[in-house]
Amino acid sequence: MIVTIDGPAGAGKSTTARKVAERLSFQFLDTGAMYRAVTWLCLDRGIDLQNQELVAAAAQSATFEFQGGQVFVNGRDVTSEIRMSTVTNESRHIAANNAVRAFLIELQRQLAGTANVVTEGRDQGTIAFPQAECKFFLTASPQQRAIRRQKDLARNGEHVALEEILNQQTGRDQRDETREFGALKPAPDAILIDTSDREFEQVVTEIEGIVRSRMLGK
Ligand code: C5P
Repeated sequence: MIVTIDGPAGAGKSTTARKVAERLSFQFLDTGAMYRAVTWLCLDRGIDLQNQELVAAAAQSATFEFQGGQVFVNGRDVTSEIRMSTVTNESRHIAANNAVRAFLIELQRQLAGTANVVTEGRDQGTIAFPQAECKFFLTASPQQRAIRRQKDLARNGEHVALEEILNQQTGRDQRDETREFGALKPAPDAILIDTSDREFEQVVTEIEGIVRSRMLGK
């Protein structure tokens, strides 16, 4: 069974998807980490992020491993580095690169294989796994999402003003929503959940319940 959880940055997708996967003993795919890993690789190699062909070639010749929350690029552990704000901000060039998107979608399908998977991102229910049995779209108010992002960054040792985060977030939302290929939007059959005023535990339990009932109905 494939469970997709899409939504904008800061809606709580990662935390929720990881927990749901754990409770169901499903595999977990963090597809944002893949776009971040390619961004990190290009920044590390000094590749012009806007040169679509060079970026795609670099992604295709690298090895990416995702093991229990850790991310490795060519064998190097980049788990913390891919969360830095430089990577967050520059990842938009990678997300807009159609060749990289096609490559990563293929990788996502390969990693999912025939296993039971919870996958989170922007285009999981629409493009990567349109046949998924259970699709969710998580949202939250812009203010709430920015507060969450600020806390995440602080945990990583970066202290950024809320206003700056809000400004960057508005830009990212617009780019995510208007992308030519893989735009952020709920799949027609996705269940919409607003996480603004809810505890993650509650959201996790709700999603888990829906998935379990669909499994019984299969
Ligand atoms: O979700 P996260 O903030 O980790 O995403 C990192 C970057 O990857 C963002 O620029 C986002 O737009 C992009 N992304 C994407 N498609 C996905 C997951 C993330 O374009 N499925």
